[in-house]
Amino acid sequence: MAEPAVTEVVPAQEISARVEELGEAISSDYAGRLPVLVAVLVGSLPFLADLVRAISIPIEVDFLGVSRFGEGGRIRLALDTETTLEGRDVILVEDIVDTGLTLTVLRRMLEDRGAASVVTAALVDKTRRRLVEVPIEYRGFEVGDEYLIGYGLDWKGRYRNLASLWAVLDLETLVEDPDALVPHLYGGTRD
Ligand code: PRP
Repeated sequence: MAEPAVTEVVPAQEISARVEELGEAISSDYAGRLPVLVAVLVGSLPFLADLVRAISIPIEVDFLGVSRFGEGGRIRLALDTETTLEGRDVILVEDIVDTGLTLTVLRRMLEDRGAASVVTAALVDKTRRRLVEVPIEYRGFEVGDEYLIGYGLDWKGRYRNLASLWAVLDLETLVEDPDALVPHLYGGTRD
């Protein structure tokens, strides 16, 4: 049988330990304030869920959704926050920063709305693929440019609920069949 075209790059225990550290850093940096964590849907959900529980000070949580269109990373807001962010300390929560275009637009938008401060917590930083420089104040892991799935990251909506981060070595496999890695990554067999 052929080797599965996927390899674990960050095991669940390592993610968990790093998220704990990020939570401690945020708790210490924001002591005495009430930051609002604004998570960018959908991939940030596992990271957000673990991060909020690693933070030991009061916080609030809200969400942004973006949809992509056209060329050059153009985005439009598909879901806005309930919270009024004027005067608030905002921590944007992202699963991954790739070109940096999404984060650049979102940070500018929140600053234009009069947020008191805006920083980013991103689990995964693909520095090598950056097109625009954007700060990442709380960064989980710097990775190469391989395609990643798991812990929020998807291929056509699949694989977000895997506990580890996996690199897909042969993307063609997934292009042909989005479920190709299911038997290996979830065990059991497909119908
Ligand atoms: C991912 C991630 C960022 C964006 C980063 O979202 O959550 O929002 O891509 O890419 P960039 O740095 O090149 O702008 P994605 O489109 O995969 O949406 P999802 O979280 O719903 O899967």
